[in-house]
Amino acid sequence: MLVIGNLKMYMTYEEVKTLIDNFDEDVILCPSAIFVPYFLNHKYKVGVQDISMYDLGSHTGEISAKQAKDLGVSYTIVGHSERRKYNNETNEEINKKIIKGLENNLKIILCVGENKDDDKEKVIERQLLEALKDVSNFKDLIIAYEPVWCIGTGITPTNEQIETTISFIQTTIEKNFGKSVKVLYGGSVDKDNINTLKKINNLSGFLIGKVSTDYRQLKEIVASLRD
Ligand code: 13P
Repeated sequence: MLVIGNLKMYMTYEEVKTLIDNFDEDVILCPSAIFVPYFLNHKYKVGVQDISMYDLGSHTGEISAKQAKDLGVSYTIVGHSERRKYNNETNEEINKKIIKGLENNLKIILCVGENKDDDKEKVIERQLLEALKDVSNFKDLIIAYEPVWCIGTGITPTNEQIETTISFIQTTIEKNFGKSVKVLYGGSVDKDNINTLKKINNLSGFLIGKVSTDYRQLKEIVASLRD
């Protein structure tokens, strides 16, 4: 099972040092881009939380896929619901980011998920079809199913609900692109619910937010998935 930590914009430099000094497991950590160099050359692989849809050039504040790859970054998250919400990111922009990332040999973690009152299947199908338009390399693509109403809320869907949605995601991709994909779950994963969530049959791992900043809990989660 894959474990990916999305450290979001949670950590100060001191907190980053504490995490790095106390944690070295075979996971993927996605820190704020400014801290990426500190995370390189450990047992874990490193991802960025977003990349630019542009090539190198005059784009103040952006990070290109080429720069990330050059530095030793292996993964990028794209289409996180917080970026969709606070940065008004569209599926078309997310599509451009995915294509840029793949061109530069980054592995892509594409986040999809519905808001509480959405028609879940309709929203997710649209997110997938629009974000994956013209994508052919599905071996470097992972989908993270993150229901927006579960992020940072302490709420998780039932295992049955997650399993059904993962199966919907996989069928949609098979039907439209003829490919199979790994699907992760994200949203309020912690050391207590991991033992239940890990029983989901078609699940390939977890995308963990807040708890990934806490090395003790993260170690417990990794240990639980080894059992
Ligand atoms: P939480 O684990 O903090 O709910 O966040 C999930 C998430 O958004 C990971 O990308």
